[in-house]
Amino acid sequence: MIRQPLYLPFAEGQWQMSMSLKALDPQDWIEIDDQFVKYLSQKDTLLKTRHSEVFASLPGTEASQQEVLELLLDHLLKHFPQHYRRQGQTIEAIATHQVWHIPDFESAPLDLAGRLVQEDLLLMERSPQGYRLVAASLCFPLRWRLREKLGCPLTQIHAPVPGYSEKLAHPVDSVFNRLKSNHPVWRLNWSIVESPELFFPPENAKPGWEKRINCQNAGDKLFLRIERQTLRRLTQSGDILFTVRTYVYPLRVLEDNPQMAHNLMETIQQMPLEMQNYKNLLPIQEVLLGYLEDIASFKPL
Ligand code: HEM
Repeated sequence: MIRQPLYLPFAEGQWQMSMSLKALDPQDWIEIDDQFVKYLSQKDTLLKTRHSEVFASLPGTEASQQEVLELLLDHLLKHFPQHYRRQGQTIEAIATHQVWHIPDFESAPLDLAGRLVQEDLLLMERSPQGYRLVAASLCFPLRWRLREKLGCPLTQIHAPVPGYSEKLAHPVDSVFNRLKSNHPVWRLNWSIVESPELFFPPENAKPGWEKRINCQNAGDKLFLRIERQTLRRLTQSGDILFTVRTYVYPLRVLEDNPQMAHNLMETIQQMPLEMQNYKNLLPIQEVLLGYLEDIASFKPL
């Protein structure tokens, strides 16, 4: 049985350049599923072999990182007691048998926080140029590098996103300025990618990948990558924590859901060309739409 997606952000079949933020029930902040061991093991390997690519922080952020760690430990022990065990200064992820000595992470508490959960964790601090990225545990980036965005404000981080400065910069800045610690929010982002790799920096893109995809194999060679993102203000530091939980499914999950294939097709067709280009859809547009149309045609209309 193929795992079905929990979230389908294109369910409305309409392309919109909008924030689409929803109120987040604080008890739903973190998500743990049957991929827990795989995600945590992969993070462990990445942090061992390429630490500077997946963790970075600016000096002066330690207290705020510590606040994140404490908030997360409280949350995990309260909501997932079957997954974590705390004994004095150690915390254990039961399923992976990993045990961490909390004081070992005194200079980088966010590093430990990131190892505990499937989410990536990014810390945003107020600055005269708008909120800027000051620390992150980012093991699962999609086509971007942490070191290139560390220290940058939101507008600069989103510079490659077509339409962001015109349509989103102002509303996003205003949400960041007004966000209340007791009212966290969440949103979804989606991509179609050529690989199921969770760690997908720009250099992982293989030239000519699009030539290997056709209407017959698209369901297995393309993947639906969905990011569930949350934002919450930290009460002590006033910084904002951005979490990103990445889900990846082979595109053929849509074969059980012709209506959703139809909605994705409509969404792509309405998307401006610059956005299709940014999302790497142009090289596979014809094949992808053909594949989705085949599935959608089984839909009872
Ligand atoms: C309400 C908050 C936010 C909104 C509405 C938003 C919106 C977006 C959108 C529409 C994209 C294009 C993605 C796509 O369609 O494939 C994007 C990309 C991105 N966002 Fe955000 N974003 C938000 C918060 C953040 C935060 C807090 C960070 C922190 C680092 C961030 C980092 C990025 C990065 C790194 C990219 C990829 C940029 C690139 O291609 O270089 N976003 N965002």
